[in-house]
Amino acid sequence: MSYPRRSALAAALAGAALLITSLPASPAAAAPLRTAVAVSAASRTAPAPTPTPTPVAAKPTPPKPPRDPRNIGVLVNKTHPLKPKSYVPKGLVRVNGQRMRAEPAKALTKLMRDAKRSGARIVTVSGYRSYSTQKALFARYTRAYGSAYAARISARPGYSEHQTGLTMDVGAANGACRLGSCFGNTKAGRWVAKNAWKYGYIVRYPKGQEKVTGYTYEPWHLRYVGVKISTAMKKGKIPTLEHYYGQVKRR
Ligand code: DAL
Ligand code: ZN
Repeated sequence: MSYPRRSALAAALAGAALLITSLPASPAAAAPLRTAVAVSAASRTAPAPTPTPTPVAAKPTPPKPPRDPRNIGVLVNKTHPLKPKSYVPKGLVRVNGQRMRAEPAKALTKLMRDAKRSGARIVTVSGYRSYSTQKALFARYTRAYGSAYAARISARPGYSEHQTGLTMDVGAANGACRLGSCFGNTKAGRWVAKNAWKYGYIVRYPKGQEKVTGYTYEPWHLRYVGVKISTAMKKGKIPTLEHYYGQVKRR
């Protein structure tokens, strides 16, 4: 909530009142004050209309981010690790050789079927990853690129959405731009960006949101959040899960 600032006129009048009520006893001492009083008195002749506060529509309070990794809406990022960090989801099933939880697997199967019908063939590339797999992956990226860049493209163990069983990296069946930002420009990548929300998925690391998500653009990383959240994000033009949960600090 913001209030209108006190107007310059109101401030001047208040200052004048203060000066008038505290006039010094001797005229000599009063001399320097006269100008200030005169200016304030002059400004009183043309009163500005009293500003009325503009009603500000109350913003709905964002939902509290769930921390239980069994919750399909769980928030996992650099400041919200899995609880516990060693979490292993129950009931993992396979989708084309990659594992994930049953509910997102069912939705992904439908997504892939419909994509294929539209001429965009999508394959699974990387689904559930255990704490130790993520640890090895992060170490590999660190050796290859150094830790600063590794941290922009890979989560540390215990901090990856892949460990929830709610995430799948997807690719184009022809292998074009696999795990590359150009995947976003392939037929498969474009189809996913446009349609994933209908199946309860979001492209979790959109372009231009690294400051918010902590990761560079990953058009292939699909996170299942359920249709309620994905639809709310789509309709409300909410770019990231951090925005959805009100985790983005305003500047
Ligand atoms: N590449 C994403 C950030 C992960 O490692 O989970
Ligand atoms: Zn991923």
